[in-house]
Amino acid sequence: MGKQRVLSGIQPTGELHLGNYLGAIRNWVEIQQEYDSFLFMADLHAITVPHDPTKLAKNTYNVAAMYLACGIDLNCATIFVQSHIPAHTQLAWLFNCITPVNWLEDMVQFKEKAIKQGENVSAGLLTYPVLQAADILLYEPDKVPVGEDQKQHLELTRDIAARLNYQYGTEDEPVLKLPEPLIRAEGARVMSLTDGTRKMSKSDPSDLSRINMLDTPEQIQHKIKRCKTDSVRGLTFDDPERPECNNLLTLYMILSDQTKAAVATECQDMGWGQFKPLFTETVISALKPIQDRYHEIMAEPGYLESVLRDGRDKAEAIANQTLARVKAVLGYSVPL
Ligand code: AMP
Ligand code: TRP
Repeated sequence: MGKQRVLSGIQPTGELHLGNYLGAIRNWVEIQQEYDSFLFMADLHAITVPHDPTKLAKNTYNVAAMYLACGIDLNCATIFVQSHIPAHTQLAWLFNCITPVNWLEDMVQFKEKAIKQGENVSAGLLTYPVLQAADILLYEPDKVPVGEDQKQHLELTRDIAARLNYQYGTEDEPVLKLPEPLIRAEGARVMSLTDGTRKMSKSDPSDLSRINMLDTPEQIQHKIKRCKTDSVRGLTFDDPERPECNNLLTLYMILSDQTKAAVATECQDMGWGQFKPLFTETVISALKPIQDRYHEIMAEPGYLESVLRDGRDKAEAIANQTLARVKAVLGYSVPL
């Protein structure tokens, strides 16, 4: 039997941050030898909220370079741009016509983003998870490694696949394969530096709330100095009254590659004045090799272009097969 397949993507809507790395990319790197990986930049998703056309293409390249800089290995992985493959939007349309609107209105991310945008909510923001279902189901992955916030979208993806199979397939011959989410407990929800009850996010207006993958040592030091803490002495995990403390200790644990027990012991008598410099050094040295590799890759634009061209060719061949199968069961004729 061949390797199982994984598929995942990130929206190129701004700089990637520690949440994207620990919730998603780092996990892709960790499992890549075991799987055949398909990783893409979700640039069609990036315009569901107001965007800057002068930055879209550049951000898309930056994210691709960041995948490689974080250690994605092209011997195991195919990297491509969502908008380069028309099958994504075509399948999304077909799915739109079998997805009940109330399923979409129930999505937490839609509700949150719609509130932020007030009157100016596009239809694309509502149907975004349908496009995500198309992204996934086109490639028939076994697993989809994402952060916790994407769990509901993956359930919807399974629901859409099951509905299409039920309506147009047979029990012996399902049209679409149902994927499993792959969500690691550790790092699945990295919280904001300015509020330990909210997730770290690209869309938070305050840059002080997140550590970006390309932040300089000075920026990292400044952000950690300013980050929210509390006035309790002794640092502990899992205290519901101390969400910031739990978040910072968890980040320290993952980035310093230590066990929870070791960090709990090391930090139990520490105050913030002692912890913060230690944590700052850990973040800076964890990001340094990634940043160095990123700048090397960006210095060679021809290389990235060839990676994305190869990725598109490989991904498109698979996507087109699935699209043709779905069109056939829906009754479309094949153009002669
Ligand atoms: P996005 O930035 O929304 O395109 O998310 C890209 C990937 O990063 C998805 O797999 C998310 O689940 C993951 N992710 C985003 N923010 C966080 C966070 N604060 N903690 C953990 N994972 C995250
Ligand atoms: N919606 C995802 C996010 O905001 C990005 C995404 C789009 C995605 N399509 C996907 C993730 C398919 C996994 C699989 O993070």
